[in-house]
Amino acid sequence: MPDSRPRRTFAVISHPDAGKSTLTEALALHARVITEAGAVHGKGGRRATVSDWMDMEKARGISITSAALQFVYRDHVVNLVDTPGHSDFSEDTYRVLSAVDSAVMLVDAGKGLEPQTLKLFKVCALRGIPVITVINKWDRPGLAALELMDLIEQKIKLRPTPLTWPVGEAGDFRGVLDRRTGEFVKYTRTAGGATRAPEKRMPAGEVDEADRPVWQDAVEEHELLEADGADHDQELFLAGTTTPVMFASALQNFGVAQLLDLLLDLAPAPHATPGVDGSVREVEDEFSAFVFKVQSGMNAAHRDRLAYARVVSGTFERGMVVTHATTGKPFATKYAQAVFGRELSSIEEASPGDIIGLVNAQALRVGDTVYVGEPIEFPPVPSFAPEHFMAASAADVGRFKQFRKGIEQLDQEGVVQVLRSDLRGDQSPVLAAVGPMQFEVVQERMTNEFNSPIRLSRVDYSVARRTDAEGAAALAGGRGTEVLQRSDGTYLALFVDQWRASATARDNPDVMLEELPAGG
Ligand code: G4P
Repeated sequence: MPDSRPRRTFAVISHPDAGKSTLTEALALHARVITEAGAVHGKGGRRATVSDWMDMEKARGISITSAALQFVYRDHVVNLVDTPGHSDFSEDTYRVLSAVDSAVMLVDAGKGLEPQTLKLFKVCALRGIPVITVINKWDRPGLAALELMDLIEQKIKLRPTPLTWPVGEAGDFRGVLDRRTGEFVKYTRTAGGATRAPEKRMPAGEVDEADRPVWQDAVEEHELLEADGADHDQELFLAGTTTPVMFASALQNFGVAQLLDLLLDLAPAPHATPGVDGSVREVEDEFSAFVFKVQSGMNAAHRDRLAYARVVSGTFERGMVVTHATTGKPFATKYAQAVFGRELSSIEEASPGDIIGLVNAQALRVGDTVYVGEPIEFPPVPSFAPEHFMAASAADVGRFKQFRKGIEQLDQEGVVQVLRSDLRGDQSPVLAAVGPMQFEVVQERMTNEFNSPIRLSRVDYSVARRTDAEGAAALAGGRGTEVLQRSDGTYLALFVDQWRASATARDNPDVMLEELPAGG
């Protein structure tokens, strides 16, 4: 029997240290975890469920690549797809956003909107992913609530529509005013936040004497918001114009149940997805899925490739034979399993919105579609604007064949983008990445998997713009710039910095120089 419980598939977008791991654990505590796929990072001695597929990953105690945490709440199945975030910020972090239906933007109340959050938000905005905002760490001193609302409106042009409003300023968190019912939700601290924090709901008239003054402040601010029309509107939220906001302390478990309720009540369920030819796959159609991440070298003794795919339609049943849209070839899922933490456990079936891990997936690449029945091919997962560049060459020139093979493989998997030019020759392509950690992965895999240790040397660029063949000719030999061609044929003009990129664009108004936001 296929599992027909409704799904919610989302990701948390945040800057390191905003509390994503803490929130993930708190969510898991409130709900009943079904499966875990390396989503919870083991930091500071906390519960570690990380898949340690590489030595360096172990040494750092973080998960370089990860998948999803699945849990049940109010008879819904919730999939939290992990966004790698510390120094392991990479193209994968962006790619997971193609696999979710909504995002939770986690903001540190003391810091406001930080750079990595802004980058990830941009991708959500471009992909039309609705965003719920959680202001975290309200238990300690931070910015004023109204100031945070201004920041959101100004920095990302989303209209905040708070659903709850804090009672007590940051650092003096008594509870929240539920703006929909006008009730006071009072929080009580529990030691270490290890258990579900007690919440007590009461009408305005029953607020304790001790809480009265701060309650009154909250009521006044709520009235200000009301006068300003900052109320939730489901259509505007789904259209990406507004963001519902709530206040929380992941560490104290405050607001966590509210967030789960919000996800179920407001966040979109998996929906129909158009293919490249304009045909549409409805969720109840036959099985289809697309690959949004490929992971290799899970096990040093047994090299394997695992493709993470999001189910778009139909029911996945282990053992079914699917068609790989790119090659038209059948792909047997006999060995298809889900990798959860260190263990391989098999998934028997999965529904739209769920994430499956397909092992032995040698032929599957990021963006590929697999389906049953009526053919469908989903649009490719875009590549993203790289910000780090390194020239690569074989450390041992006698191993050039292995070098070429390895680089080609890593390019196809989307581990790095590979850029070439006649000037640099085939012996020394430039590798481009969103995050510097991707180079470490390349180095490790070239040495251990392809038997060709490489030499990487920094090339001093930090900005890439898309150009064309004429642009490449016009910019050749320019100062502080170089044009290379990516393996998909796109010409990328690289610049030492933003200033040089702008100056070049100004001096060459006829040359195409497009920003590469999230769809490079
Ligand atoms: P991340 O995954 O987003 O990087 O953040 P993580 O959850 O690891 O949290 C970063 C730090 O912030 C941790 O402290 C964590 O305890 C703290 N934190 C998270 N949520 C809250 C909150 O709601 N209130 C307060 N006051 N702190 C919060 P740490 O000292 O760096 O690590 P740890 O030793 O406590 O694990």
